[in-house]
Amino acid sequence: MALDKIRIQGGNRLKGEVIISGSKNAALPLLALTVLGNKPCTIHNVPHLEDIKNMVKILDHLGAKVAQEKNTITVDATKLTSFDAPYDIVRKMRASIVFMGPLLAKYGEAKVSLPGGCAIGVRPIDLHLKAFAALGADIHIEEGYVLAKAKKLKGCKFFFDKVTVTGTMNVMMAASVAEGETILQNCAKEPEVICFADAMRKMGVEVSGDGTDTIHIQGTKNIGGFEINNIPDRIETGTYMVAAAMTGGEIHLRNTDPHLLESVIAKLRQTGSTVEEEKNGIWVKAGPKILPCDIETSPHPGFPTDMQAQFVSLLCLADGKSNVTETIFENRFMHVPELARMGADLKVSGHMVTISGVKKLNGAPVMATDLRASASLVLAGLTASGTTDVLRVYHLDRGYERMDLKLKALGANIERVPE
Ligand code: UD1
Repeated sequence: MALDKIRIQGGNRLKGEVIISGSKNAALPLLALTVLGNKPCTIHNVPHLEDIKNMVKILDHLGAKVAQEKNTITVDATKLTSFDAPYDIVRKMRASIVFMGPLLAKYGEAKVSLPGGCAIGVRPIDLHLKAFAALGADIHIEEGYVLAKAKKLKGCKFFFDKVTVTGTMNVMMAASVAEGETILQNCAKEPEVICFADAMRKMGVEVSGDGTDTIHIQGTKNIGGFEINNIPDRIETGTYMVAAAMTGGEIHLRNTDPHLLESVIAKLRQTGSTVEEEKNGIWVKAGPKILPCDIETSPHPGFPTDMQAQFVSLLCLADGKSNVTETIFENRFMHVPELARMGADLKVSGHMVTISGVKKLNGAPVMATDLRASASLVLAGLTASGTTDVLRVYHLDRGYERMDLKLKALGANIERVPE
């Protein structure tokens, strides 16, 4: 775990080109899906991130053979030797819960430590477990581990009380071997789910309805492997778009897809930036001033909770008052007190933060215990006067590939220094 900090001398206008990496949140469940494969599975465009390394550690622990070359990972999980995801790794990354579905499907048993991950409020897994139980699994919680067992899974109809992204994919994997058809209702419609369903179809599973509320899965015994191109990271894309808007800059984002983040593009335009959509890229130019706007996070295609902190940073410099409401996670305003220390004017009331724009932020030592909150502090530092030190860089390394280097190439005065 790198105990480095990011030091920024704010004030530079960002200009130039940035290459967007593959999606973290699509790659993580795809790596878990390899467990289901009866043949090797290959994923291209995988980003180099701490979360990915942790996922690979779990695959190693399970006994899978993992080969990595540049941004391609091939996993041969045809002969596993264990069926548990240990606390040591899982505590660092909540997404490890997605191993439960494929282990249960393929081996009839799974043991996964109760997850850790970002400190953004209570993040239960009750819906994953309820759905596994509906498919016929016995679920027990023992000494911090979830144990799931099933002699046989049986197709069923299941309604998710809340839209859950990893929950949807976890249950899709369990359903893939169940006898008969499974109908999942109130599913997540995120692009990561569609990419995941594509991989499942390549493996020979009949999946339909992904990208809508209702997904149908026909269980099968004949599951092969897959080879897939991971989608671009829409949250990394959005973060660099905000960097352009905040610094009065002009950035050409390449290897990304505007269709993945329509709600973010719409909001950025409302704040006064010019955004041009291309086939495999986006071009952003900051407006003469930042205009205020109101935002409410919601499941896809709504405004993503993972872009909330970055927009709060942006709106700190708007010409007027904005309200930002967080509806997905409790306690996801950890960037707010830190931004206030940099001179921003913010007031939290329940799930809403009211931001009165200021002319300028001031550099300060700041830190956050959540990945996207850390990114929002880096963005604030890019425009602040003087020096900003963003501590605990390991949170950034979980989700952004070489953020300091990418920003430096765009003209930021930024360096990584030992804490
Ligand atoms: C995923 C993303 C994360 C993003 C989030 C919401 C990955 C690896 N992470 O997280 O970056 O912020 O989607 O877009 O893809 N919930 C329950 N019970 C459950 C599961 C979830 O109540 O069993 C609740 C959660 O507490 C939360 C909401 O449902 O309030 C959405 O969570 P979910 O979509 O499951 O988030 P993740 O898939 O963990």
